[in-house]
Amino acid sequence: MVFSRTHRGRALVALLFALPACTESSPSRSAQRADVGPTYHADVAPLLARSCGSCHVAGGLAPFALDSYESASGLADAIVAATEAGTMPPWGTAESDLCRPQHGWKGDVRLSPDELELLRAWRDDGTPEGDAAHAAELPQPPSMSLPDATVTLTPELPWVAQPGADQFRCFSLDMGLSETQWINGFQVVPGNRAVVHHVVLTIDPTGASLADVDETGSFDCGSGGTMDFPDPRVLGVWLPGGLPFELAPDIGVEAPAGSRLVMQIHYHTGGPDAAPDTTGVELRYTEGRPDYLMVPVGIGNFEKTEANGDGLQRGPNDTLYGARFFVPANVAGHTEEMVLTVPDTGDDGAPLPEIRVLGAAAHMHLVGTDLLVEVEKAPPWLGDGPECLLHEPHWSFDWQRTYLYDAPFESLPRLRPRDRIRVRCAYDNTLANPYVQRALGDLGLSSPVDVELGEGTLDEMCLAILPLVVPAE
Ligand code: HEC
Repeated sequence: MVFSRTHRGRALVALLFALPACTESSPSRSAQRADVGPTYHADVAPLLARSCGSCHVAGGLAPFALDSYESASGLADAIVAATEAGTMPPWGTAESDLCRPQHGWKGDVRLSPDELELLRAWRDDGTPEGDAAHAAELPQPPSMSLPDATVTLTPELPWVAQPGADQFRCFSLDMGLSETQWINGFQVVPGNRAVVHHVVLTIDPTGASLADVDETGSFDCGSGGTMDFPDPRVLGVWLPGGLPFELAPDIGVEAPAGSRLVMQIHYHTGGPDAAPDTTGVELRYTEGRPDYLMVPVGIGNFEKTEANGDGLQRGPNDTLYGARFFVPANVAGHTEEMVLTVPDTGDDGAPLPEIRVLGAAAHMHLVGTDLLVEVEKAPPWLGDGPECLLHEPHWSFDWQRTYLYDAPFESLPRLRPRDRIRVRCAYDNTLANPYVQRALGDLGLSSPVDVELGEGTLDEMCLAILPLVVPAE
């Protein structure tokens, strides 16, 4: 850790790098002729392939395909409705006067206003098919397996998801490292897709997690991703349909000799006869020591205010006795705020290296609705107001992921000593919030309850995870 102030560091369910599959190719839209409106083969197919194709294909994450004229024209109304509402493709960040990050995002598959207009015009025209013989070229679907993987780690014994409640199993995988390596990419290879909900990968730098493993080859590891071994380092998170996570060739995440990789799998309940699961992980190592290290840092989930003003900030429902993380039942628009000042030195007292921010991820539970991360820059800062890193105004627990800036290293946002990182979270703890309804349903409750900081279904969090990059010294 460059600097670590997360009170609940162990509870970081950092849903990092869960990158739902999407293609990187740039918008390609054939020019419309003045006399003819958009057609499926000339205009709509390439757009759907680019922005929807990674999930809406046979065997994909989405429940139906959108890769033929028949499927797309039959669902034209739903396509227009979902894209105009902004629910499809799933994408969390928004840029507005509240937040204008310096850079765009990698893998941004959102539709432009022109593209939305095109879909609507096609639907309104009666979904003309156009000429299949002169169909526009479609972007290639992305590779789901990690290019140039160095190793594939798989548990020795398969796990059979149990009937009853969901389970969290941790597999301690031997990385076989006799010397330090640097992880430059990973991909999860799901086994039994019917039961695997998501996967969190954590480096266990001392290998201590082996002691937790029982005769099944794994151990129960709770709902919050609790890691009871020293110095857990979250590598990333994978959701079904996620593309491989890849860093630039000169960046790696350090895994010392003897490290193990702890693969935490959230299993759906297996039902009476679930097939065994053998989910594995592909890893790619850098060739030798990389120039830069990636270090994910969690900021937030503070329980109190620190002497220097950092930590949990005073909120709307606080008493004279100080700040408290408390989201009252039946209140919409409640906010909590977390602040962390970048220190002058690292944990070891040495001056901080040059720190750059590769991107950002938000994390809240089911009551949260909006999360914003900004940096109040220490002087000299020539910008106007704070620098915004991320804003997710329609937080969705189901679609959380890390957003990475589409920018070269030298122009990524920097963090300097005495910069104040501010994370502001808003909550809707009323029945108008469908996620609250879902959580109450899961717990057999009928009306909202007061919510505090914690790991349970109806506890909340306010956390930003910043994948930082520092020179490897
Ligand atoms: C990252 C995967 C992913 C991408 C990309 C994606 N979808 Fe979906 N889509 C889903 C899933 C999963 C569902 C099932 C409902 C849900 O979970 O929200 C869905 C549901 C839908 C629905 C059903 C109604 C609704 O709103 O839930 C429509 C229509 C739809 N998608 C259209 C699209 C279109 C059009 C695109 C591209 C412009 C697109 N989707 C891109 C995963 C995706």
